[in-house]
Amino acid sequence: MQAKPLLWITFYLPDHLIEPLKPFVDVKCWQDPTNDMPQQEFEVAAYEADILWTVVPNRLTADVIQRASRLKMVANLAVGYNNIDVEAAKEAGIIVTNTPDVLADTTADLAFALMLAAGRRMIESAKALYQGQWAGWQVLGFTGQDIHHKTLGIIGMGDIGELVAKRAQGFDMKVLYHNRNRKETAEMRYSVTYRSKEDLLRESDFVIVLTPLTAETRNLIAKEQLALMKPTAILINVARGGIVNEDDLYDALVNGTILAAASDVFVQEPVPTTHPLLSLSNFTPMPHIGSATVDTRLAMVDRNVASLTAYLSNEDIPYRVV
Ligand code: GLV
Repeated sequence: MQAKPLLWITFYLPDHLIEPLKPFVDVKCWQDPTNDMPQQEFEVAAYEADILWTVVPNRLTADVIQRASRLKMVANLAVGYNNIDVEAAKEAGIIVTNTPDVLADTTADLAFALMLAAGRRMIESAKALYQGQWAGWQVLGFTGQDIHHKTLGIIGMGDIGELVAKRAQGFDMKVLYHNRNRKETAEMRYSVTYRSKEDLLRESDFVIVLTPLTAETRNLIAKEQLALMKPTAILINVARGGIVNEDDLYDALVNGTILAAASDVFVQEPVPTTHPLLSLSNFTPMPHIGSATVDTRLAMVDRNVASLTAYLSNEDIPYRVV
């Protein structure tokens, strides 16, 4: 009997979610629900596997791909795939799939939540309360920024950007956007107005970054861009660490170049607790939970399972990146 292909699931996944694949594959699965698989272990898994089921912390670089001579398919549990060198995968004839169209609303909710949290100083003031530092109702106690009727600038107008704009309409916000291409339908549907990146940064009270991480978008928001923003402005990153330059953001928050920032993503994840940004009361961190709702995570798993079963049954593979 021919051996079944080896599927390496490089993150913890409860057994019942793997069940539909078991007739087709031998499965190895990372068993620690509280710690990511270390990169070294991941590279061993990539070397062993015929099929990999990956998450964003797993870096499938050109080097790793070169060594992974059995590897034929990768299902990535995310819509973003900056953790995979897709060009190298394509060259090696490896299929890569992702999870499109199921997490935009959920991530837009978190972007909006972070805008509210940073604007209204929610985490900072809750922390003060826990620490017994709430002196009672004071006229200027914990005063933040209004969100309603303010100007929101969205950098990167994909699905998530459009859904943030839709939510902003309910808050009577003026919405500007910057994108590689004009999005006429979004302009009509959500009353958003195109601006150059520089003008958007100058005019916005809140700036939300929503681009993918690529060579062009790395350090898209750095010292020069932060300097264009209003001193009362608030920057939110729910896309990927590295799009906003963390050192420059730290300086901007300490020097009062901008008022506050919030970020769901970091260059290094999990972010070390000694990271300078975490020492600032005007910085609101989140542990990369943009798509983390039960419904959405199960829908993402379903997308990957659909790609994997199609591959294993020689059918057309949905959600292919390459
Ligand atoms: C999560 O970060 C994703 O890209 O889906």
